[in-house]
Amino acid sequence: MIAAYQARSQARVDAALEALFTPPRAELARLYEAMRYSVMGNGKRIRPLLVYAACEALGGDPVRANQAACAVELIHAYSLVHDDLPAMDDDDLRRGRPTTHKAYDEACAILAGDALQTLAFDILAQAPQSAETRLEMIRVLTWASGPAGMVGGQAIDLESVGRHIDQGALETMHRHKTGALIEASVRLGALASGHATFEQSDALGLYARAIGLAFQVQDDVLDIESDTATLGKRQGADEARNKPTYPALLGLEEAKRYAQALCEQALHALEGFGESADPLRALAFYIVQRRH
Ligand code: IPE
Ligand code: IPE
Ligand code: MG
Ligand code: MG
Ligand code: MG
Repeated sequence: MIAAYQARSQARVDAALEALFTPPRAELARLYEAMRYSVMGNGKRIRPLLVYAACEALGGDPVRANQAACAVELIHAYSLVHDDLPAMDDDDLRRGRPTTHKAYDEACAILAGDALQTLAFDILAQAPQSAETRLEMIRVLTWASGPAGMVGGQAIDLESVGRHIDQGALETMHRHKTGALIEASVRLGALASGHATFEQSDALGLYARAIGLAFQVQDDVLDIESDTATLGKRQGADEARNKPTYPALLGLEEAKRYAQALCEQALHALEGFGESADPLRALAFYIVQRRH
């Protein structure tokens, strides 16, 4: 079920993303090519899928969530390009091919990331919702990507390298660097639907908070358990860089149990929803069962 839903939703967001990389003038061909390279290809598109699934859980039309789905994936792709830079995680492989700074050069990768970030807000500002809803959507994505969200989490991550941090601090780091954008994806989908009641928004918020943390716990687990070919990024990178992770703190088995418990929390939060939330349920399972 999730495979067909994923394929359909991926095709929808990929078609919308593909249209964004036509250079407005010949001098910008390389920049736009690097942007396209960073976004298209083998991404799982989990965040756009969450946007669509949250919208559909509330009876909304996923096509009306296209701009939000693209915007969140553009921010995510920019975060990966910068995360891989030599000054940050210094990785050579991403989504099964050379990282953007390896395929192009460092300056080009920095600019491609910058450009993807601003493009995300341009697209979101063109969403079909009312001006008031669009403004709220822009605020949600700004909060989640900025210093109170992803960028803040990346700063904590870099400051924590080689240091022992306790579970509370690790949770804060993960909720910021990864959880925030995942929570924003669900909120954007709910806003795009135009139908969320206060109770439904609350329940979706609990769901999103749980899977947002579970996503990064599983990312840490896979860094140990998977292999480079399956991951499409270098296995063992966290240990090599002395990153604080859930398996490093709790042990591998306990980290896996924790991801599972978070998945159950997420499913529990959806109890008041009927079948329309099945894609959200399937995504919660997928997030902790995935192998890459
Ligand atoms: C990887 O995200 C980076 C994290 C935030 C953990 P994904 O696992 O969603 O990466 P892609 O988009 O599928 O490549
Ligand atoms: C990255 O976390 C989170 C981002 C904001 C990009 P990681 O550094 O663990 O992501 P991967 O493992 O390189 O994909
Ligand atoms: Mg990192
Ligand atoms: Mg990294
Ligand atoms: Mg990782």
